[in-house]
Amino acid sequence: MKVTIKNLTKRFSDMTAVNDFSAVIESGELIALLGPSGCGKSTMLNMISGILAPTEGKIFFDDEDVTDLSPEKRGVGLVFQNYALYPHMTVLENICFPLEIKKVPKEERIARAKEMAKLVHVDTMLDRKPGQMSGGQQQRVAIARALVKQPRILLLDEPLSNLDARLRIEMREEIRRIQQETGVTTIFVTHDQEEAMSISDHIVLMKDGFLQQYAKPQELYDEPANCFVADFLGNPPINKANGVIKNGKIVLEGDCEVELEAAKNIAEGREVTLSMRAEAIIVGEAEKACVGTVEEVYVMGKEVLAYVSLGTTKVRAYIDAEKTFDKGQTVNIGLKKRGVFVFDKETGERLA
Ligand SMILES: Nc1ncnc2c1ncn2[C@@H]1O[C@H](COP(=O)(O)OP(=O)(O)O)[C@@H](O)[C@H]1O
Ligand SMILES: [Mg+2]
Repeated sequence: MKVTIKNLTKRFSDMTAVNDFSAVIESGELIALLGPSGCGKSTMLNMISGILAPTEGKIFFDDEDVTDLSPEKRGVGLVFQNYALYPHMTVLENICFPLEIKKVPKEERIARAKEMAKLVHVDTMLDRKPGQMSGGQQQRVAIARALVKQPRILLLDEPLSNLDARLRIEMREEIRRIQQETGVTTIFVTHDQEEAMSISDHIVLMKDGFLQQYAKPQELYDEPANCFVADFLGNPPINKANGVIKNGKIVLEGDCEVELEAAKNIAEGREVTLSMRAEAIIVGEAEKACVGTVEEVYVMGKEVLAYVSLGTTKVRAYIDAEKTFDKGQTVNIGLKKRGVFVFDKETGERLA
């Protein structure tokens, strides 16, 4: 099912949690709704589910305007961070429960619940109570319970936040598998960029209630619309250095002149932020963009990371394990086209 969101706004008295938000979610896709805590992700999800009424705007499921429909009538499956299973019920009873409410005959609901339990891999634990299961297993049951009604859309609000790091990775892959097996259109809320990057077809990145960019994960990483998007994605975080455009060059704080083809068209005197991914900085390159000083070299397993000063700014760069550099050594720095961006220092607008 396709979801169309038109100019959606939610205000809580004088606070605008979601601001004029529009997007189309294609049928069968898994979308990550990504952004820092407090940016409006849950508010957005709760408006799609029908738990919250929007202040302005409309929501369509396919061609049907559902803006004024109750959650029950929308046909949504919900999963939250705290599994919210009924502790006194068994796994089977928990998964059956939504069908019981809909008065589905007993035999049919047990058959459907067992099918869902199999899909999420808890079919060997049907008689257990939630308290006898791990967090990951409980979240599997919660997903089965959300899917058993055959919802038109599955909405997950930070479903993995209560799990430890290893289980989180396992479960996010499981959510992807379950989503692909069922083909259900899914919106997955997370503040974890790596989680969003690893499982979604498209990412919606939000900040302060505003949509920042809606794109495929790789496109968000390679072509960020603004400085916030570039900062939010990637590990280690993107390197940033402030500078000003002089004679077609970027002069970074501390008088480091950077020659960058892409910066040649930016107006003289404009204050900019030069953002560089660690893998886009080449230390000891013949074709130099600027000159830097090696401050520190760290060997971390298969990767070698160098801290290099460009003027007064220290940046992280990956270096070839074969190359050796001394502390304090002056080096030529090359910059790749991919992973190097120029933003307006004030507004964060992308300039190059
Ligand atoms: N019921 C509410 N009343 C007042 N303010 C709210 C309410 N719900 C959320 N907010 C505010 O709206 C903003 C967005 O919240 P939320 O959607 O929960 O963010 P997220 O899920 O991205 O962390 C926050 O500033 C939050 O404090
Ligand atoms: Mg939230």
